[in-house]
Amino acid sequence: MCGIIGYVGKEPAAPKLILGLKRLEYRGYDSAGIAVRGKEGFSVYKRKGRVSGLESAKDLTGGCGIGHTRWATHGEPSERNAHPHIYGKFAVVHNGIIENYRELKEECRARGEEFASDTDSEIVAHLLAFYDGGNVLAALKTVCARLKGSYALAVMCSDGEDALYVARRKSPMIVGKGETGLYAASDVPAVAECGELYSLADGEFAVLKGGDIRFYTAEGEIRKEKMARGSAEDIPEKGGYAHFMLKEMYEIPASIANSLVDFEENSRFLAFNIVLCHTEYIQIVACGTAYHSGIAAKYAIERLARIPVEVTVASEYRYCNPIVKENTLVLAISQSGETADTLAAATLAKERGATVAAVTNVRDSSITRIAHFVLYTNAGREIAVAATKSFNAQLALLYSIAVALATAKGRAARFEALRVLPSLSAQTLAGIEEIKKVVPLFAEADSVYFIGRGADHCAALEGSLKLKEISYLPSEGYPAGELKHGTLALIGEKTPVVAILTQRALAEKTMNAVSEVYARGGKVLLVTNIPELAAREEVFESVLLPACEELFSPILSVIPLQALAYYTAVFRGNDPDKPRNLAKSVTVE
Ligand code: M6R
Repeated sequence: MCGIIGYVGKEPAAPKLILGLKRLEYRGYDSAGIAVRGKEGFSVYKRKGRVSGLESAKDLTGGCGIGHTRWATHGEPSERNAHPHIYGKFAVVHNGIIENYRELKEECRARGEEFASDTDSEIVAHLLAFYDGGNVLAALKTVCARLKGSYALAVMCSDGEDALYVARRKSPMIVGKGETGLYAASDVPAVAECGELYSLADGEFAVLKGGDIRFYTAEGEIRKEKMARGSAEDIPEKGGYAHFMLKEMYEIPASIANSLVDFEENSRFLAFNIVLCHTEYIQIVACGTAYHSGIAAKYAIERLARIPVEVTVASEYRYCNPIVKENTLVLAISQSGETADTLAAATLAKERGATVAAVTNVRDSSITRIAHFVLYTNAGREIAVAATKSFNAQLALLYSIAVALATAKGRAARFEALRVLPSLSAQTLAGIEEIKKVVPLFAEADSVYFIGRGADHCAALEGSLKLKEISYLPSEGYPAGELKHGTLALIGEKTPVVAILTQRALAEKTMNAVSEVYARGGKVLLVTNIPELAAREEVFESVLLPACEELFSPILSVIPLQALAYYTAVFRGNDPDKPRNLAKSVTVE
């Protein structure tokens, strides 16, 4: 989603802003811009498209500037809607959504002010000009009190000394000290050179000036602790792979190994284990890929622990007036920990009395401040917009929870069945290039279908999501039994259908669906761990998975599907790391 960078220091700001924006490119965006403070006021460069379009701004002089990558929400992707927005002596970049921007704009128009863009963000610059009484921080506090919605803001003023003013509500913002100056950014990689970093909480402000950073709330000045630094701030490198997505797929075995938790063995989780003992109902809230890992968790938890699990898309949960009974555990799953819908659902669940456990991959992300318990997947930073290794890591952690819940309920479940998953995933990865032989068939299809029953259903959904988001092919995932209730009408000569079949007890039932596809000329790619099925005449091509505990098989079966999406995207000439219109973390509703 949108990215922010700001610099104030001894060196020219422009190259630092452009470098910071390049490091934020992975978040997804459709236009970019920078503004640098010079003797004659601001120099502003904006481009639709890639950050590389800003290279000509590199020679600007001036040691104070702000930059932005924009993912359009209000107003089309264009230069006029790109940030920074300038009004009077103020330049502003904004992440988030100002929900009451229409009424605020009316107010400004009534004063005769004109707007240069269609965005919600520009209102901030107008309001700053209106409330400016010579103290920029005071004006910013007054403006923020008038805004509804979410924001991370970086503001610069054309008079006075070089300084940046930042604010945060429901959208990440960090500030830091580097060797040559001070930085503000929406995400750590943009400011990897900073030796000291501070994360703003909701309602906090910071002023970066004269080599020093000072922190405030609406009430007054505060002190802040430095952020703990981990590997998260590493500058992303492809490490010899063609794309981050491919590199991240090859990191799946490590991400599974690092995310398995033997809760019984690990005293750090004592309090969480006690909650598990009392849990009678589970609700899972998540979006996209994380929602699919929730579906896999439902199968595992219900089967192993016999506790009812409801999985709800977070953007629906928040508006469905959810019933939260006593002893309900809510698992809020979010790779980034910043997805606005998941944050809102987790907040609502907490208000209604649930115990909320966040499953996230990002330390100190917003969801960690909402949840009672934080369970980290340790997949390492994921750069590609399409989630891969973080999904496998989520499954590893959620399966661990399923085993722990079963144990807490006195039911038989073996953690040992999970220990083999890293090596089985490495075996699965070793064969992924084989999938390339079906890529031409898929790449030229009008539409593609993924089917699976029971635990395989989640892999069908995830395989389909991966394919559509990076190859741009229309695709759907279904429970295999649903095909005949409508979708079969769309199967014709050469329609590719991926059938995932790892549950022996359901094998013949799913093979019925395969036969129905074959009878209509469709081409079935079977992903299975049952060798004899691969030889059936209805099967066009097959991928054979290593044998594993059937309930946990989605953690393996999804790997060839991720590879299918990747190679199909590359075959079609798409950049799999930066799919059009999509963002890595969706911080707006
Ligand atoms: O960071 P989150 O796990 O909360 O993100 C949720 C979805 O936006 C995300 O999984 C999205 O669907 C991915 N692009 C899928 O590859």
